[in-house]
Amino acid sequence: MLKFLCVLVGIIAFTNGSNSDLPAVTQITEPVDLAEGPIWDGRKNILFYVDILTGRVFSYNYNTREVNHVTLNGEVTPVILTLDENLLLVGLNRDLVALEWDGTNELVQTKVISTVSQQFPGSRFNDGKADKKGRLWIGTVGPWVNGVLSPDEGVFYKVTKENLENPSVEIAPVNNSNGLAWNAANDQLFYIDTNSNQVAGYDFDLEKCSISNHRVVFDLKYHPELAGSPDGMAIDENDNLWVALYGGGCVIQVNPTSGELLQTIAIPARDVSSVMWGGPNLDILFVTTSRISLSEEEKLKSPAAGSVFAVTNLKTKGIPVFNADII
Ligand SMILES: *[C@@H]1O[C@H](CO)[C@@H](O)[C@H](O)[C@H]1NC(C)=O
Repeated sequence: MLKFLCVLVGIIAFTNGSNSDLPAVTQITEPVDLAEGPIWDGRKNILFYVDILTGRVFSYNYNTREVNHVTLNGEVTPVILTLDENLLLVGLNRDLVALEWDGTNELVQTKVISTVSQQFPGSRFNDGKADKKGRLWIGTVGPWVNGVLSPDEGVFYKVTKENLENPSVEIAPVNNSNGLAWNAANDQLFYIDTNSNQVAGYDFDLEKCSISNHRVVFDLKYHPELAGSPDGMAIDENDNLWVALYGGGCVIQVNPTSGELLQTIAIPARDVSSVMWGGPNLDILFVTTSRISLSEEEKLKSPAAGSVFAVTNLKTKGIPVFNADII
């Protein structure tokens, strides 16, 4: 019944959204504790995402609005698509795991293909994405001990077919490796270490498969009107960045060339974890959120926290993410 009601509410809100000129924010899933890692598979019209701490990988079917999941043994994020539409890559603790799952039926099998960061046994994978040539850029984060993040235990890696045994370190140390996006020309990589409160830019050499020339393209310290820290990130067709603000209750649109804050979209959840373009026209911004850090009282006040939201009517759209090609 609850499921049916949500479907109905979703449809109504979508209808309103398309009649208005303003962005419309619609809750499209039930809440989980820490939704993260949204990724759109245009081959199936499925949005994959995870609930990190419960080890669950979810699929939201855009056509049927059905949500399915499989449960893995550990903390899971991110989800990366591969050339094979029934094979996903996920980070499971410090393992990179190939997950044979079509998003609808039973899990077929899992296989560990690489393990990183032996020197930081308590750390785990966090955000990651494939580049245009299918190589995987993926980072880690240290453990939280009594609510405090163990500093400098994160590493940002590049994983290729050739280096699965020993992925190369690209940025280290980092605290909380997050949002990444390439511009349309694939000559810049944007990267977030959440605790820096900045969005960084690097020159990206697609042929040499390397990054260089770190710079700051956006710094929250110059925006006292914004709360929270930058988390997951996506890019639109005009090379503007969309950044989830964890603790900030919003998604911001930023021009990484001018450093300008272009737009703030309020989300009805304080802890906004990530964003991904999707939908058949890539013009829906899917937004994941968390309720894990809310008090019981706060949870009552924001019952949608932990859900996935769809933001429509943004008058721009995304570019497709790339599929990994490393196994
Ligand atoms: C990580 O966080 C600690 C504590 O806030 C800080 O001292 C350190 O400089 C940070 N490391 C990086 C790489 O930003």
